[in-house]
Amino acid sequence: MKIAMIGAGYVGLVTGTCFSELGNCVLCVDNDVEKIKKLKKGIIPIYEPGLDELVHKNTKAKRLSFTSEIEEAVQVSDIIFIAVGTPPRENGEADLSSVEKVSSIIADVMTEYKLVVGKSTVPVNTGKWIKRTMNIRNTKGIDFDVASNPEFLREGSAINDFLYPDRIVIGVESERAKSILYELYKPIDAPILVTDIESAEIIKHASNSFLATKISFINAISILCERAGADVKKVAEGMGLDKRIGSDFLNAGAGFGGFCFPKDLSAFIKIAEDLGYDFRLLREVEQINEEQKKGIVKKIRENLWNLRGKTIGVLGLSFKPNTDDIRYAPSIDIIGELIKEGVKIKAYDPKAMERTKKIFPNITYCKDAYEVCDGSDALVILTEWDEFKNLDIKKVKDLLKTPIIVDGRNIFDPETLKEIGFVYTGVGRK
Ligand code: UDX
Repeated sequence: MKIAMIGAGYVGLVTGTCFSELGNCVLCVDNDVEKIKKLKKGIIPIYEPGLDELVHKNTKAKRLSFTSEIEEAVQVSDIIFIAVGTPPRENGEADLSSVEKVSSIIADVMTEYKLVVGKSTVPVNTGKWIKRTMNIRNTKGIDFDVASNPEFLREGSAINDFLYPDRIVIGVESERAKSILYELYKPIDAPILVTDIESAEIIKHASNSFLATKISFINAISILCERAGADVKKVAEGMGLDKRIGSDFLNAGAGFGGFCFPKDLSAFIKIAEDLGYDFRLLREVEQINEEQKKGIVKKIRENLWNLRGKTIGVLGLSFKPNTDDIRYAPSIDIIGELIKEGVKIKAYDPKAMERTKKIFPNITYCKDAYEVCDGSDALVILTEWDEFKNLDIKKVKDLLKTPIIVDGRNIFDPETLKEIGFVYTGVGRK
């Protein structure tokens, strides 16, 4: 099939590349001319395991190409995916101006049937607006369909998530659109749930909000555990063994971040508000997440007494492992707070240092974890990269000025560390 992927950001680039891997002919479009120039040269603007190889393989096979000419892409394609950014406004609402602009251009340019599929995370009823916008401009009365096909890709495992998803959701209002999308997803072995467009749009926000709720729930339990002398890891294990609960997304820690959960939560709260419902539960989920980040700073303060003039080593800057993404990462809030308190920061992250330099140009960036430890008054873990789990912990102790670890991701065993002589504080642990 011939596909236009409008928006070569994270979602568009990964999804477009994966569709080409399935044998389709994909043209990725972006109005960022520099980005397109780089992509044409094979330079991938984001770090995502396996993406480089797939882009190169499919570009070489001429199934994947890039352009900044949206008109050309619309004309040559049967299916047009809208994967443009929907960034949050001040009030949490998603900014849909790019979606509107793209819908208008498609309507202006199309000369034959097109299936226009919403891929970006959008508020419910966006499909209706796309259709309305296109209808107004579609003066020649050309046939088209609008559909919603939300993505559930996780950064760091996006390609695997695309190729082996738990489910595929398609929101359609015609048999024609349904059969085109069925055909497109035929090579993937996963249940396909067909709904109306509005339900598909809500499924995306509801899923992300539910997962964020799970994390805030276990983070709230972690506070109870600390006060009662229980271990949140054991509590989560005990809860997760119940199939109705499941063990995923029950890791207590420094809070959730990334460009999806925080943004989608506040957008969903705003969507609910617009529909006349005060989603108090989700406001609390947000609140708990904010407190969780503050809780890490509190733990550092409780260990070090006075913060002013102290040096703190930070391991992990990305919002989670296997990505260089620092958007809404807990590390940003926590480091910002520590700097305000007069702390000197030494930091290391396997992938996210270049991006962090733009926010904190004046902290010390180290070549590895051991350099971070050298001379620091305490070590703080903010992202659970595998290489931190395998550190030579005795060497860490020798390098630190004082053997204090605040483990914001519970990667170490408290007993082992205490035996070695560390003053160890995890999240929700004895
Ligand atoms: C999420 C959704 O999982 C994905 O389906 C959607 O399409 C995009 O948003 P992503 O943002 O890549 O994906 O990351 P995810 O792996 O879901 O983690 C989100 C945040 O939650 C991270 O900051 C992570 O550290 C945190 N988290 C996750 C926890 O704190 N505890 C957990 O148990 C799980």
